[in-house]
Amino acid sequence: MAILVTGGAGFIGSNFVLDWLAGSNEPVINLDKLTYAGNLQNLAPLDGDARHVFVQGDFGDASLVAKLLAQYQPRAVVNFAAESHVDRSIHGPGEFIQTNIVGTFHLLESVRAYWNGLAEGPKAAFRLLHVSTDEVYGSLAKAEPAFTETHRYEPNSPYSASKAASDHLVRAYHHTYGLPVLTTNCSNNYGPLHFPEKLIPLMIVNALAGKPLPVYGDGQQVRDWLYVRDHCSAIRRVLEAGRTGETYNIGGWNEMPNLEIVHTVCALLDELRPRVDGKPYTGQISFVTDRPGHDRRYAIDARKIEHELGWKPAETFATGIRKTVQWYLDNQAWVANVQSGGYRDWLTKQYGAQAKA
Ligand code: NAD
Ligand code: TYD
Repeated sequence: MAILVTGGAGFIGSNFVLDWLAGSNEPVINLDKLTYAGNLQNLAPLDGDARHVFVQGDFGDASLVAKLLAQYQPRAVVNFAAESHVDRSIHGPGEFIQTNIVGTFHLLESVRAYWNGLAEGPKAAFRLLHVSTDEVYGSLAKAEPAFTETHRYEPNSPYSASKAASDHLVRAYHHTYGLPVLTTNCSNNYGPLHFPEKLIPLMIVNALAGKPLPVYGDGQQVRDWLYVRDHCSAIRRVLEAGRTGETYNIGGWNEMPNLEIVHTVCALLDELRPRVDGKPYTGQISFVTDRPGHDRRYAIDARKIEHELGWKPAETFATGIRKTVQWYLDNQAWVANVQSGGYRDWLTKQYGAQAKA
């Protein structure tokens, strides 16, 4: 038995693969295109481990995926592969349409053909788990209840619209063809191996480099934050016991405004790696132009996965963010490695001259 993971060299995918093989001997076939966001260094602990088979390639490449499915006969496919950064989707939506919509469509076609050809037992046991986001539900006003699985889809960014479209395709393949799918919609993740273009790792990395900490608009936008390993345990649980055709919201019960997140990161750095001049890192905070169409608030109602599958996050934000900051302090070589020429080009495009400060 084996599972096929797509996008397993990215942030969540690599945490998932590492966690999976820490708790099971079931092999993982890891298909990743290695875009700017994919990093084999994330998987270095698995070097020489025969349970991990890494294949560089596109999840939308039908002949490659058909070959891998035929060769390894996985009992499940877990789809992490995507373009994942909202700001990049604003600068260039085309890649998001191609990967998140067209790519997912091709994956569904490949998986459908494979599943149709399975014998009765493996066919009944097979699962395709599609990893998605709470951003498909759009933005909440301050007092509105958190997103449940039945909340209307109202995506506002090219990223969330492309993920919403992929969720609809997955749903349609269940409804029309009976493909045994599961969809998870998760809130903002944070933790080790997070590419420093997203809020929390960018703040840690910029703070340590003495650079400005760019807070969009008034910094009062609210997100729900979940430690990445909790997301991984939720995915494992849904794969194990989720009802096919169902969607499961995953969240940390931890809503927080961005500015509070940045203050928390600064306070931890003040404690763990004080600035040489003794001043607080909050002095580096810089309010910058807001993101166009910026969603004001996301919040997840994660009662369904708790009641049906008994899953709850293990980390609080206080414990998870401390581990995260410590991980970045302990892994400066990883940070230096991902800050390639391409990364610097992105900072200049997004933050202009400030990025060089
Ligand atoms: P990421 O950007 O860190 O990683 C994406 C990975 O997919 C990279 O390794 C990349 O190389 C790979 N990839 C991209 N295009 C590919 C293609 N055509 N074929 C094969 N591989 C390809 O993203 P992430 O943060 O790890 O997110 C993983 C999934 O989880 C995404 O689907 C995302 O929408 C979803 N999600 C992310 C968050 C979050 O906070 N990061 C929250 C909820 C849901
Ligand atoms: P991000 O990590 O990009 O995740 P998402 O947009 O998918 O929620 O951003 C999280 C929040 O932080 C979001 O409200 C935008 C804000 N943000 C900043 O204020 N400054 C930044 O430099 C970045 C990258 C994000």
